[in-house]
Formats: sequence, C-alpha cells, structure tokens
Amino acid sequence: MSSYIEKIKSLNEKREAPPLAHIHNYGCQLNVTDGEKLKGLLLNMGYGITEIPEQADLVIFNTCAVRENAEERVFGNLGFLKQYKEKNKEMIICVCGCMTEQSCIVEKIKSSYKYVDIVFGTNAFDKFPSYVYNIIEGQKRVYDTSGPDETIHEGLTQVRSCKFKASVPIMYGCNNFCTYCIVPYVRGRERSRAPKLILDEVRSLVNDGCKEIMLLGQNVNSYGNDLDKDINFPWLLRQINAIEGDFIIRFMSSHPKDASKELIDAIYECEKVGKHLHLPVQSGNDDVLNRMNRKYTAQKYLEIISYAREKMPDFSFSSDILIGFPNETEEEFLDTLDIVKKVRYSNIYSFIYSKRTGTKAALIDDKITYEEKQGRMQRLLDLQREITTEDYKKLVGKKLRVLVEANSKGGEGTLTGKSSEFVIVNFDGDSSLIGTFVNVEVTGARNWAVDGKICTT
Ligand code: 5AD
Ligand code: SF4
Repeated sequence: MSSYIEKIKSLNEKREAPPLAHIHNYGCQLNVTDGEKLKGLLLNMGYGITEIPEQADLVIFNTCAVRENAEERVFGNLGFLKQYKEKNKEMIICVCGCMTEQSCIVEKIKSSYKYVDIVFGTNAFDKFPSYVYNIIEGQKRVYDTSGPDETIHEGLTQVRSCKFKASVPIMYGCNNFCTYCIVPYVRGRERSRAPKLILDEVRSLVNDGCKEIMLLGQNVNSYGNDLDKDINFPWLLRQINAIEGDFIIRFMSSHPKDASKELIDAIYECEKVGKHLHLPVQSGNDDVLNRMNRKYTAQKYLEIISYAREKMPDFSFSSDILIGFPNETEEEFLDTLDIVKKVRYSNIYSFIYSKRTGTKAALIDDKITYEEKQGRMQRLLDLQREITTEDYKKLVGKKLRVLVEANSKGGEGTLTGKSSEFVIVNFDGDSSLIGTFVNVEVTGARNWAVDGKICTT
C-alpha cells in the first residue's frame, strides 16, 4: 500500500498546487471513522481536503445501505457530480462503503453512472491507493466486488474533526442476521480489535485532551467473543475506566439479547462511563421480535431496564424502533407503544421498515400500506415527545455535569452540551468553555432538551 501512496504523492507534488479531495460520509458513526481513515490516506497521498465537491479533484462517497432513502440520496448526489466532472475531466469519482457490497447497486452504477471511476466496498483501505494510482495512470474504471474485507487494518492515520470527542471502533461486523438488516451481508462477520490497541488509542486520545470516548461496534456486547475467554465488553469498560484522566466513556450499539447484569454492574462501578444506554428494542411484541430474529422477549428486555434503574435511578435509555416490519398488526404495534411507556426512554430513533434485497424479511409479502406505517410513526413520536417533556420537567433543580460541545442556536454567549445521562443541556456561557466539563443547574425543560445555568459546585 505504502508504495502506491508514495507514487501518488510524488505525482501530486509535481502539480502547481496540491489537488483537493472531498469525502461525503453517509450513515452511522462507524462510517464517519472510516471516512476519517480515508482522509488520512488522502493527506498522505498529497491531497488537500475541501468541503466543496465542485472544487475537488477526487470525490469519495462513503455510503450507507441500511435504508433505501440513504441510497437514494447517494444516487441523487452522484447525479449532481456529473456536471462537475464535465467541467473538470480529471476529477476522480469513488463510491465505497456498504452500498457497494450489493451487486444490484454495482450493476446500477455501471449502467447509469458511467462516470464513476472507482467502486470499492467496506474496509478496503489497503487497496484504495492502488485503485487511485491505476486511474491516474489511465485505467478506465476500477470495480472491486470481492466482498467485504474482513481484515482489521490497524495503524492507519485517522483525521478527526473534533479534538475533544473521539469515536474508537472496538469491533467490526455483525453475526446477528436480524431478518430486516443488510449489515451482516455488507460488513461481514464479527471481529474484535486487540484490547491493547484500543487501550493505547484511548490513552493517547486522553493525553491529547480528548474528553469523550465513544466506543463503537454493531454490537459492542459481543466484544471479545473471538478473543481470549476472559475478555468481554464489561472487562474492556473497566480497563478503559482505569485510564488516568477526566473523560467520559460512551458506547453504541448494544444488542439487548446480551446486555447482561454484568454490563450494568460495570457501568455502575465505572465512574467515567456515562449513565445512559442505547439499547435498541426495535419492537415491543414478542412475535414480531421472533420474526425479526432478535432472540429476546419484551419481558427479558424490561428486566435489564429494571435492574439498571434499581441501581441507578437517574439512568437513561434510548432506543431504535422499527415501524412496520412486514405484516406488523395494529395490536403488535400497540405493544411497541406499551414498552415505550414502560421504559420511558429519553430519546428514540424510529425508522419505517425499508425492504433490503438479500435479507430474509425482503421475501415476505407485506400487506401493510406505507400510509399506515407513517401514521404509526407519528403516534410513536407524539408519545415519545410527551414522555421526554414530562421527564425533563422532573430534572428542574438538579445539577448535571455537562461536557460543553458547541455554541447553541443563540450563537456567541450561549452553549450546548450533554450530561452523563445524555441529556442535551442549553445554557449561557463563554465559548472558551467548549470542550470542558461544567456543572449546570437545570432551570427549565423543553421537548428534547433542558435549559440551565452554570453553577460553581
Ligand atoms: N429498515 C429500516 N430501519 C432499519 N434498521 C436496520 N435495518 C433497517 C431496515 N431494513 C434500523 C434499526 C437499527 C438501526 C441502525 O437502523 O432500527 O437499529
Ligand atoms: Fe443489523 Fe441486527 Fe446486526 Fe444490528 S444486530 S447490525 S440490526 S443485524
């Protein structure tokens, strides 16, 4: 790989000004970290980075395949690139990531977006420089359809956009095959990073001033299943918690089927771990959960919630909810509303089911109309808004420790950040506080956030 990086770099150095590259990431946090690694490779190849695609000599669309609307956006934006490439004939257009692991998508690009130069799937960091080099040297197109690369590429430079918040992947891939989900097909099987490498990375981030470490994986609770028998996710949390420094540890996503009491105990005992768990329930009905191949029941899910709340009364939960799984009945949907009422999430991310070719659920003849699903989505969102507003009102008068993230909508003099429980807190304060922890007393509640004022104790 490094020889191609050097070759491209020396070609780029001969140009009057460094050529520019633009990366557009779609989808999840994991894709953002992949994009940061691609950025690192591009800088090493002598490219500058631009946020404006029409200025770029090389454009990468790092795509997401989880739902159809993400794919449609990619095709829409690819359409836009055509005019830029007509103006700049040397522009290199690359499409990579989850979408391109599906043969139907590659076929569509081949036939309808002929000006795309390079197509490669997930995780092909080591091959990317050679593909760029081959295009510069006159090859017409490079289409890598070899399937998901299951190697773990360590040692790549990651160009992070934020100094005080960092995402650290701890594992890649997924073995769960939820019947609606394309991820296991496009990201391959689960593999865990070596604990030493994760700990070294976190230590170095914290030494550089990082205040929030977000551990990432499709299902972090499977961490270590492919490593030594003593290594699991609660163990990893404890190791990271023992690293010296003032920082908060978060993680996502957790599959409820293996969210154990041991995990909750670790969160409870580790003072640096945020008191919040994103635990995607998807549905509150056992029959639907079974058709989704989720491997837990609503009862089992609620048991883990109760266990956490008994230990930590202020503990908060968020969730992903899938609306309109094929042939989900009104009664089944009501069970989802019911579990939302029982758990009282602080936040939910709800999605209307999107058919993914190649998954088991795609074979089901779905009789429920889209309008019906939209109606259910609205009812769910209305319920969640009520719950969040009610629960946020109960926070008034409490003190929260907040990591200040940015100026809030009011601009200079106003700040926004998140508490340990993942509550969004808005308050007045100086911009110099961004990237630090402050104590804030909650003074009022809004729908999705609370207002507060900085206090000294
Ligand atoms: N349609 C809609 N939403 C989906 N998700 C996964 N697959 C699909 C699909 N086919 C949602 C799930 C998951 C989140 C990341 O995306 O809720 O937890
Ligand atoms: Fe998809 Fe299920 Fe794996 Fe999550 S756990 S990535 S929903 S297959």
